[in-house]
Amino acid sequence: MKNVKKRTFQLKRYKSLSSTNSELKSLVDHASPWLTIITDEQTNGRGRYQRKWISQPGKDLTFSTLFPLCEEIMPFMPNITQLAALAVVKSVETERIKAQIKWPNDIVVKGRKMCGILVEGVTIGCQQNVIVGIGLNVNSKSQVLENNDTTTMFEETGKVFDLYLLLERIITELQTLRDILIQRGISYFTPLLNYYCAYKNEQRTLTINSKTVQATILSVTPTGALSVSINGEIKEIISGEISFKK
Ligand code: BTN
Repeated sequence: MKNVKKRTFQLKRYKSLSSTNSELKSLVDHASPWLTIITDEQTNGRGRYQRKWISQPGKDLTFSTLFPLCEEIMPFMPNITQLAALAVVKSVETERIKAQIKWPNDIVVKGRKMCGILVEGVTIGCQQNVIVGIGLNVNSKSQVLENNDTTTMFEETGKVFDLYLLLERIITELQTLRDILIQRGISYFTPLLNYYCAYKNEQRTLTINSKTVQATILSVTPTGALSVSINGEIKEIISGEISFKK
């Protein structure tokens, strides 16, 4: 992998952990910005909506980083997941993998999930922190992950990747995107978020506040919301879930 711009961030490596997000949460009190936790194996990897995150020990990337907050970032807290998603799609694109963002937090390749992102807030006293947890299927085979709806970087390219170079690339990308977010705001990313948006103009089953509806995915708005059409009516979704059902 070439052109990895070196940035400094503290990295803690573990053989086995329950969850990198949980471990970082327990360390956040004394942690420096961008402290990153990586583990070979997660015994209780977590996803959104209390789902489990399964990955193959030593083959896939499971890490969490402490995303630094500042006054300028506060209005864009709901967009941090999208920023992390952009960092991943741009990083894997350098390996010629055309990945898309299944709004707001999944990365898919031709509809098969390759990466999930779990952003969690932790408040200590009056100090707010944000943990960005990323699970990326890298060198495993999706059969091993026992799910036909998933894919891996290895399956997409036939190549084996260095997990640490990949990690460094993603964090460096996220740092750059954060700098841009501070300077330009989330609307600057609208064209990019639309370019990478999965299922555009397709009908999907969405679950919004536990209600399941059929919707056509239209676009990502300048605030980062998802614009959809439900029975001809245009709605903006702030946070929701797109199922794989057609
Ligand atoms: C999802 O698909 O809903 C999000 C999955 C996020 C998984 C990553 S793996 C590293 C970090 N630690 C966790 O326990 N979860 C995230």
